Amino acid sequence: LENGLMRTPPMGWLAWERYRCSINCHEDPDNCINERLFMAMADRLAEDGWRELGYVYVNIDDCWMALQRDEGGVLVPDPERFPSGIRALADYVHSRGLKLGIYGDMGSMTCMGYPGTTLATVALDAQTFASWGVDMLKLDGCYSSSLERALGYPAMAKALNNTGRPIGYSCSWPAYDGGLPPEVNYTLLADICNLWRNFDDIEDSWQSVLSIVDWFSEHQDVLQPMAGPGHWNDPDMLLIGNYGLSFEQAKAQMALWTVLAAPLFMSTDLRAISPQNVDILQNKLMIRINQDPLGIQGRRVLKTKHHIEVFVRPLSKDASAVVFFSRRTDMPYRYRTSLGALNFTGHALYEAQDVYTENVISGLTRDTDFTVVINPSGVVMWHVYPIVGKESLPWL
Ligand code: GLA
Repeated sequence: LENGLMRTPPMGWLAWERYRCSINCHEDPDNCINERLFMAMADRLAEDGWRELGYVYVNIDDCWMALQRDEGGVLVPDPERFPSGIRALADYVHSRGLKLGIYGDMGSMTCMGYPGTTLATVALDAQTFASWGVDMLKLDGCYSSSLERALGYPAMAKALNNTGRPIGYSCSWPAYDGGLPPEVNYTLLADICNLWRNFDDIEDSWQSVLSIVDWFSEHQDVLQPMAGPGHWNDPDMLLIGNYGLSFEQAKAQMALWTVLAAPLFMSTDLRAISPQNVDILQNKLMIRINQDPLGIQGRRVLKTKHHIEVFVRPLSKDASAVVFFSRRTDMPYRYRTSLGALNFTGHALYEAQDVYTENVISGLTRDTDFTVVINPSGVVMWHVYPIVGKESLPWL
């Protein structure tokens, strides 16, 4: 969507995966969906170095609403959990140099049974969100027919545009229509949405990460060309900091999401996250690669019978990101290959920097064999770039 927003994949925090529809604030006051949770996460993003790295969205998901609209038909937040209202929360988030995202559902109800947005209320709801100073909308698709979605998602795009407020637009539309053509029209989606959920919800497990990576790779011929500045495929939230991933798997999710040019929405307790996990999420070179201005999504270029997969993402200045991914479950695997075997065609002399260890490997040409040691369910990630200058042009 050419609304000037999200020229690189959006980054921030989204409540759903970690906090779900936890609304019992009497029993669990610090971990329920209320305004204090979002203010606390805004504080962490602003004070713990996240905001400067680009993690600027604080996003509300389902279960923020009251069960009924007000007498005027306007969506209202739950009065006990959001006593100050969303306008005040947006002001707070903005005062911390961050942006606020909200959640709605194109259909009769949200997935958890709160008021939905129907064709009759699209314009009103867009106006409500804009009047509150909201910066992003995730529009889910539970409890709708495919016809309602086909009318409703474009109608919301128009309605948001009509408010005059720049609002990033995340569409769950494709995920509700099987994620693939002909049911899904990706050209239209790229036109009307800034990002879209293609596939299943992520759950706090490695199995879930693998199923998402597999689906995105199997359908990369369809999906990969659709991503670019202003319009992104969304494989869903990062699990890093939660319970289901080992340290290697956490590093793998971060590397794979980055090579896929995916939005980086954390969904974890930023008040309690370990330094190790902070290091993964705050890796500067990783983020620079994720935010590369060309915005080209990477592809899986290789899948070996030894359960090694290689992903490559082209970056600006003739650089690339390469992720060597092991799906093995035995021991660190010594994988021998060359850039030529990974479809590098340039005649340059290359250097690679390991994104996690920061080690530099120099003197690589297309034909140089090298070995990377990949841990089980882990990755090695390289930033590969040509060395410019006389020494790289031996034929001169
Ligand atoms: C759907 C979405 C999730 C989340 C829940 C909320 O399952 O795909 O991301 O928003 O609804 O109920």
